[in-house]
Amino acid sequence: QVGMKRADIEGNGQLKCKSPLGRAQAAKNKGNKYFKAGKYELAIQCYTEAISLCPPEKNLDLSTFYQNRAAAYEQLQKWTEVAQDCTKAVELNPKYVKALFRRAKAHEKLDNKKECLEDVTAVCILEAFQNQQSMLLADKVLKLLGKEKAKEKYKNREPLMPSPQFIKSYFSSFTDDIISQPLLKGEKSDEDKDKEGEASEVKENSGYLRAKQYMEEENYDKIISESTKEIEAKGKYMAEALLLRATFYLLIGNASAAKPDLDQVISMEDANVKLRANALIKRGSMYMQQQQPAMSTQDFNMAAGIDPQNADVYHHRGQLKILLDQIEEAVEDFDECIRLRPNSALAQAQKCFALYRQAYTGSNALTVQAAMKGFEDVIKKFPKCAEGYALYAQALTDQQQFGKADEMYDKCIDLEPDNATTYVHKGLLQLQWKQDLDKGLELISKAIEIDNKCDFAYETMGTIEVQRGNLDKAIEMFNKAINLAKSEMEMAHLYSLCDAAYAQTEVAKKYGLKPPTL
Ligand SMILES: *[C@@H]1O[C@H](CO)[C@@H](O)[C@H](O)[C@H]1NC(C)=O
Ligand SMILES: *[C@@H]1O[C@H](CO)[C@@H](O)[C@H](O)[C@H]1NC(C)=O
Repeated sequence: QVGMKRADIEGNGQLKCKSPLGRAQAAKNKGNKYFKAGKYELAIQCYTEAISLCPPEKNLDLSTFYQNRAAAYEQLQKWTEVAQDCTKAVELNPKYVKALFRRAKAHEKLDNKKECLEDVTAVCILEAFQNQQSMLLADKVLKLLGKEKAKEKYKNREPLMPSPQFIKSYFSSFTDDIISQPLLKGEKSDEDKDKEGEASEVKENSGYLRAKQYMEEENYDKIISESTKEIEAKGKYMAEALLLRATFYLLIGNASAAKPDLDQVISMEDANVKLRANALIKRGSMYMQQQQPAMSTQDFNMAAGIDPQNADVYHHRGQLKILLDQIEEAVEDFDECIRLRPNSALAQAQKCFALYRQAYTGSNALTVQAAMKGFEDVIKKFPKCAEGYALYAQALTDQQQFGKADEMYDKCIDLEPDNATTYVHKGLLQLQWKQDLDKGLELISKAIEIDNKCDFAYETMGTIEVQRGNLDKAIEMFNKAINLAKSEMEMAHLYSLCDAAYAQTEVAKKYGLKPPTL
């Protein structure tokens, strides 16, 4: 090496007495100088020379030269060349983090999301998930991919009716909406005639009343078509039918079909104000799902404006405010709901939860205690309200009072044995509390047994399988959840989870790399 140094000085630029590798390294060093000086074209020339001078068996040196040239191409924004040189570098040195990460960034620029994801996943695993920069890129590309795939899939999917449990629970969150209430006596008698097979004779009220009958029978698949008959006949229940149809479009996850119906009900000045307020609540919730909080708030405010005595408006607006982290306003809305409907256990439980959130974010131990006491009062006052126990359990879990949280979930299960969600929450609690994977998975399987359309159960199971290193099983679960997703946004999130697991299996195959497992 000392001899080479002398050759450098004496060599007059020819460097004849150096070994081939020495000459290659000298060319690289020269390239590095140009690079530092911002002369990237010249740096590239030097690295190219280094590559051609380097003996082919010197893998590591050669991979460095390619990697350096890629870095220079990157400065010139020649992304295809960057990716090509990084590929050479990685072929020569498969665990070359710098080259993999540079190629990931080039793929990002070239909009090759899948390739980008694979490279950045390999980088994250090689760095043991310790480097913020690569994790951020992984997150970004997963979100982009998820959005893109969900957009495509959501358009083309079959409409999917949620489980009866879900539908009933959805309607139970409305008390002032007309359409989910039982028919009045006069209306019912028409309906009975109708049922005796004279459907074509009953002109004035056919479609909507039949739809209501189907609803009582939990024959939900018929509701949209019967409502449509009422609408097409311009029947006397036009506004009701539009609202009912929109509601079922929302339930099957077709927001674009629901919107014109809701718009129409909202604009019907002569229609019952309860119907219009309900349509506004539903359109507002839809906007929230589509991440348009300003439009959402506007609809809820309009609903409160046209029907200020409607408890549903405050109940649902309170939930929106919690999502928007406007806790004080949420509490005000729940208070208003309670004022209008003193027996609303749900509103009282939700108010407690809002107060808890407020106390918790303010990290004030005394107010946290007061909020927890509030839950105790609510479950004492409304011992039959499952939601009260469920929300209390969430707060208890948050406070690491796992044993008591578990008891609360058991109370929920006693009250509502058909609610699959509770089993998933209880399963997650077992993981957090005792790291008991088997018990956790058992509870989540139970959830699926109760409701095989419970997307939350499949998602959670997938997440656990990822942590256990069972990637194929995880992907299977995520795909089930994707097919059941209730909105495009939720589907995008599930695709991200699925793609992350898939990228890990590809990396495992290609590089023999495994992520850490539980
Ligand atoms: C939503 O409903 C409309 C109108 O019925 C239909 O054309 C469209 O294909 C549906 N889209 C989805 C995603 O189901
Ligand atoms: C199930 O219980 C949760 C509370 O754990 C509640 O929010 C949800 O509405 C219930 N769902 C159904 C389908 O009953």
